[in-house]
Amino acid sequence: MFSFRRAPLAALACASCLVDLSAAELKNVFAHYMVGGMSGVDQARSDVQQAKAVGFDAFALNVQNVVDPWSLDSIRWLFDAALENDFKLFFSFDMAVVTNVTTFLPLFKEYQANESYYHHKDLPFVSTFDGAALNFGYESANAGWKAELKDALSNDGITPFFIPDFDDWGGSGYTSDFFSSYDVVDGVFSWETAWPTTDTGSGNVSAVVDEGSQRAAHAASKPYMMPLSTLQFKHITGSGNWYRRGELNLAQRMAQVLAQQPDFVEVITWNDAGESHYIGNVWADSIASSPDIQAYANGYDHSAWQDVIAPFITAYKNGATDVAAITPFGAFAAAFWYRPLLASACCSGDGLGKPSGWENALDAVNFAVLLPEDTEGVTIKVYSGGNVIASVPGVAGLNAQSVPGIQLGAQKVELVKEDGTVLGAGSSTVDVVAETDGTCNFNYQVVHVA
Ligand SMILES: *[C@@H]1O[C@H](CO)[C@@H](O)[C@H](O)[C@H]1NC(C)=O
Ligand SMILES: *[C@@H]1O[C@H](CO)[C@@H](O)[C@H](O)[C@H]1NC(C)=O
Ligand SMILES: *[C@@H]1O[C@H](CO)[C@@H](O)[C@H](O)[C@H]1NC(C)=O
Repeated sequence: MFSFRRAPLAALACASCLVDLSAAELKNVFAHYMVGGMSGVDQARSDVQQAKAVGFDAFALNVQNVVDPWSLDSIRWLFDAALENDFKLFFSFDMAVVTNVTTFLPLFKEYQANESYYHHKDLPFVSTFDGAALNFGYESANAGWKAELKDALSNDGITPFFIPDFDDWGGSGYTSDFFSSYDVVDGVFSWETAWPTTDTGSGNVSAVVDEGSQRAAHAASKPYMMPLSTLQFKHITGSGNWYRRGELNLAQRMAQVLAQQPDFVEVITWNDAGESHYIGNVWADSIASSPDIQAYANGYDHSAWQDVIAPFITAYKNGATDVAAITPFGAFAAAFWYRPLLASACCSGDGLGKPSGWENALDAVNFAVLLPEDTEGVTIKVYSGGNVIASVPGVAGLNAQSVPGIQLGAQKVELVKEDGTVLGAGSSTVDVVAETDGTCNFNYQVVHVA
């Protein structure tokens, strides 16, 4: 029997009521953050302040390097900035890069008691990217993680709350078998369920694996952390060239999260430019050594996604189960996004060629428009290449559509009232083209509607 209690809506809405702390801690929302090079504490401050404004409770700091100053300085700056802004941080060890958990322990020991370190049930939270297949020389991965993480820390009097992404354990999602084999975990996080796979065709993202994983986790009395993401486009020499659909992925995952009510949500990601699913700042220092990534991330600001994620976080925390309840803080909140290169492009000048999964991409203008409860007579108008390609009556909550038939040239979305007044509008700054002799870029232009 699952033992966590959920805070009733009224308890969260009423400031003078007693809030059950353990339940309020559940339903926290995090953003996966790649620790990369930064020029100084100002950049850390900017990330922390923006994330806090969106409603995130903490960054999950993906650590790949515990030696070099660029990494250790960034971590220190982030903790300084978090302290100034009453924000929290926890580590997510990247086991695909550093395959030895012992390597991470000095860093974890140094920060786990920091005032800005995120705790759950008074225990320092720690996650991973992968690691379920590593046994560190023990008879099983479970035994390896117990010895090298839990026992090693308990010698120092530290008990972590261990909530890894172990979806590389060998099964499809977490099952009761997983929880009996891996009793070292205190909860689980999924990564891969955030997007459809490249072999799903034009099918949409599914929450079936998340639902099964959450059921199994709860049967083991452990929380489930569900991933929410936008798209995945990677285009790097040698290590990956693929496109996982981003047309309506964000909006569809929001609906799935609200319907499923997981214990925690982690947005993938704040700043991973390599996989294109960043919603925050991509600092120049962090991609300085990768001209490949610069070629598809520079000039592709994604911050408009924050505008629609912020009301989503509020709705999730308030216990909303339907996207109709994702209402904006003001008159509206909206963003639209599109790929400026048609899927049919040959990309003959790009040595990497087209990404796998390119044929799943829809040439479309995608929008997410949040409207208030009392909405009436608002029309969402989508212009492509100077023509209106959709005119959609707005309803309260989340309005999201992928409008096919994008045309070459400029893109625009307008929110128009019944009397013709324009409530808000956003215009592209990058035209849609049919062909390129440069990078075969499937990243999205994301446009603020203001
Ligand atoms: C793991 O890392 C620790 C500390 O960095 C080191 O002493 C140990 O030899 C490493 N183990 C393996 C198997 O590489
Ligand atoms: C937390 O970490 C920051 C950055 O290293 C440091 O300035 C601060 O003193 C630490 N606070 C505590 C309570 O350890
Ligand atoms: C994906 O979702 C969209 C929007 O709900 C829907 O129109 C479309 O038919 C779905 N595609 C598939 C293959 O189910």
